[in-house]
Amino acid sequence: MKRLVLFASLLLLVFACRDPYGYTIKGNKIVYNTPPRPAGQQSMLGFACDPIDTVRIGVIGLGDRGKDVPKRMAYIDHASVVALCDLYPDRVERAQKSLVKRGAPKARHEFSGEDGWKQLCELEDLDLVYLAVPWQMHTTMAVYAMEHGKHVAIEVPAATSIEECWALVNTSERTRRHCMMLENCCYDFFELTCLNMAQQGIFGEVVHVEGSYCHNLDPWWDNYQGDWRMTYNRDHHGDVYPTHGIGPVCQVLNIHRGDKMDLLVSMDSDAFRGQETCDKRYGKGVYKYANGDNTSTIIRTRKGKTILVEHAVATPRPYSRMYQLTGTKGFANKYPNKGLALGGEDLTGIDSDNLDAEKYMPDAERDSVMMAYKHPIAKEIETLARKVGGHGGMDFIMDYRLIYCLHNGLPLDEDVYDAAEWSSLVELTEVSIKHGSMPVVMPDFTRGEWDRLDGLKFATK
Ligand SMILES: NC(=O)c1ccc[n+]([C@@H]2O[C@H](COP(=O)([O-])OP(=O)(O)OC[C@H]3O[C@@H](n4cnc5c(N)ncnc54)[C@H](O)[C@@H]3O)[C@@H](O)[C@H]2O)c1
Repeated sequence: MKRLVLFASLLLLVFACRDPYGYTIKGNKIVYNTPPRPAGQQSMLGFACDPIDTVRIGVIGLGDRGKDVPKRMAYIDHASVVALCDLYPDRVERAQKSLVKRGAPKARHEFSGEDGWKQLCELEDLDLVYLAVPWQMHTTMAVYAMEHGKHVAIEVPAATSIEECWALVNTSERTRRHCMMLENCCYDFFELTCLNMAQQGIFGEVVHVEGSYCHNLDPWWDNYQGDWRMTYNRDHHGDVYPTHGIGPVCQVLNIHRGDKMDLLVSMDSDAFRGQETCDKRYGKGVYKYANGDNTSTIIRTRKGKTILVEHAVATPRPYSRMYQLTGTKGFANKYPNKGLALGGEDLTGIDSDNLDAEKYMPDAERDSVMMAYKHPIAKEIETLARKVGGHGGMDFIMDYRLIYCLHNGLPLDEDVYDAAEWSSLVELTEVSIKHGSMPVVMPDFTRGEWDRLDGLKFATK
């Protein structure tokens, strides 16, 4: 019997070693492989392509999210939506109408059906493929588009497995095409201002950050085409939608621009409410619902910082992306109330019962500090962004920056390594949970170059 167990373990080990993107368990840790860079590939750190006069865009996926992309793009100089694709022709038609309503020309190429997206990616007169399809299709379509010479912008999360994350990195490095994940929350006004403040040292050394996606999806479950989102949540543990929470705080910590996420531990509650929702939907006991009502993940970085990320979409709690920064000189918090605390109170002789000594600054003072540190990008485009909208304007700023950088031949604000690192949490959290919350040593998608760039910079001409 002992021999059999030994043989089986050896087989498992050999199998794990053969998977270049997989992991082995060493001691009490799950250690992910970082495979060497294949010949013929180059790093995409700081990559910029030749300026593109008018960025010709093809949008695939015109559902709840994608339907507003053509309209937003129609407000942006040097952007032109030339191709539209969805499973359903009526969604293509709806998008055409939104272009016409805005006074923009109709897209000259229309595709529909299961495989229309391939024809879109193969077009000659196209620079950028913009993907707003179900998660399960992101990487397949993005890889195909890059293989056909197109830059890609992918909705969140860009990938759902480590293998997919590496596919995006490898394809981008090999084809020299941009691969950006469309993490819009990096462009919300509070986050942009705090990023600017952090970069100017106002918080001192930022030592701990928090982000989350807490959003009761009860009103939304029926909207997703083919039930893709419930299916994914039903079948998976872990933080399946991590990027709104982790993206903006990783930017503050300069992840892969001087620091690196190293070690992750994830833990989930049982799916109490998730199971109820699933039972109502499919019948009692038809499925065992996997995704915990609350998933918490802690990450330690190479430079000794910590990140807390949470995911909760099944319970009736108010919306929160948390966004919290704790620094040696100050503190910022976005949800549930926007607050800044920049220290400075005289705390000598404070009574030990006084728990209110360290205060948030008054709202008026906070607003004037935030005005003073408004991010240059927000200053430049805020009025139009608020008019066009998209989650209050952040979606527009994201699209605006994407086109601005492509038009001017500049590196994008979010690169393929951001896409891979932030999306990697989908698998890494699930694997940690499945092994009793075992620590996971994260892969290095930059392959050792995480401190080559000196901090995050949004490029301008
Ligand atoms: N960044 C954000 O704030 C935000 C908000 C909502 C959704 N999203 C992301 O946007 C993406 C889409 O979400 P959604 O809410 O619009 O879902 P959805 O189900 O409403 O839309 C998906 C669309 O893709 C289309 N589609 C499916 N298969 C296709 C195929 N083979 N070819 C062409 N089109 C196909 C569907 O017909 C549908 O119109 C997801 O990745 C989601 O996570 C992001």
